[in-house]
Amino acid sequence: MSLGRLIITGVSSGIGKALAEAALEAGYEVLGVGRRSCDAIESHARGQFFQANLTDPIAVEAIPLLSAVSGPTILINNAGTIGPIASTAEVGHEELAHCMHLNVVAPMRLTARFLQEVEGEKQVYFTGSGAANYPIEGWAAYCASKAAVHQYAEVVAMEHPKVRIHAFRPGKVDTPMQAVIRESSSQAFADKAHFIDAYEQGELVKPEQVAQKLLQVFVADSEIPVIFSTSNI
Ligand SMILES: NC(=O)c1ccc[n+]([C@@H]2O[C@H](COP(=O)([O-])OP(=O)(O)OC[C@H]3O[C@@H](n4cnc5c(N)ncnc54)[C@H](OP(=O)(O)O)[C@@H]3O)[C@@H](O)[C@H]2O)c1
Repeated sequence: MSLGRLIITGVSSGIGKALAEAALEAGYEVLGVGRRSCDAIESHARGQFFQANLTDPIAVEAIPLLSAVSGPTILINNAGTIGPIASTAEVGHEELAHCMHLNVVAPMRLTARFLQEVEGEKQVYFTGSGAANYPIEGWAAYCASKAAVHQYAEVVAMEHPKVRIHAFRPGKVDTPMQAVIRESSSQAFADKAHFIDAYEQGELVKPEQVAQKLLQVFVADSEIPVIFSTSNI
């Protein structure tokens, strides 16, 4: 019997991949959703993958949201993009729409479907960000998208007081997204040196550490705020 069922978007790298691996190891069933799968899901009897480009509304509506047979069903809206790193005047409609569809619209639709369709105990998580609260020059689309996600989580949590609904801030995590940040143009992103420095000083959190914190949160008895930092767990 499994501990529960996790539906995780964006399992091919970074936080989502680390969480899929840790959850399978811990005894959960994992349905990975995204453009690409990962070895842990492909090689495990409790792993499944559903291919979907989350910027495609038809693909989002087709994701199978099956309830766990035992334990909770847990949705992790994790797939995301840093979006265009550029001054606002340089960013066109297509780039903005891509960032907002992936980071905001897909998690909103998936969550609404999940809350309607899944039966039994359920929990919903969004991979939020400190960028929801702190403006970062050159990251307008990303900051706005994560602020939207945090507020969406707050509203859905009010509407569903019996369901655990959270957005978590994972800190600066050593994933391919951070590599994209370090490789961006320093003209567009004034604070880039700070991110390179944090990486070189070994200050980035490992995605495996974030995954372990989340496993603790899934079974926590204590009250956790809707928006929390994994470093506080
Ligand atoms: N790293 C950090 O410091 C940090 C900090 C705060 C928040 N976050 C958030 O953490 C989440 C995970 O990011 P990460 O840092 O782990 O970066 P990552 O390694 O780049 O992971 C992003 C994931 O999203 C998937 N994805 C991208 N475009 C997609 C699409 N169109 N359809 C479906 N899946 C798509 C990617 O898979 P494919 O390319 O295979 O589709 C990948 O699995 C994001 O929401 C990010 O905003 C990260």
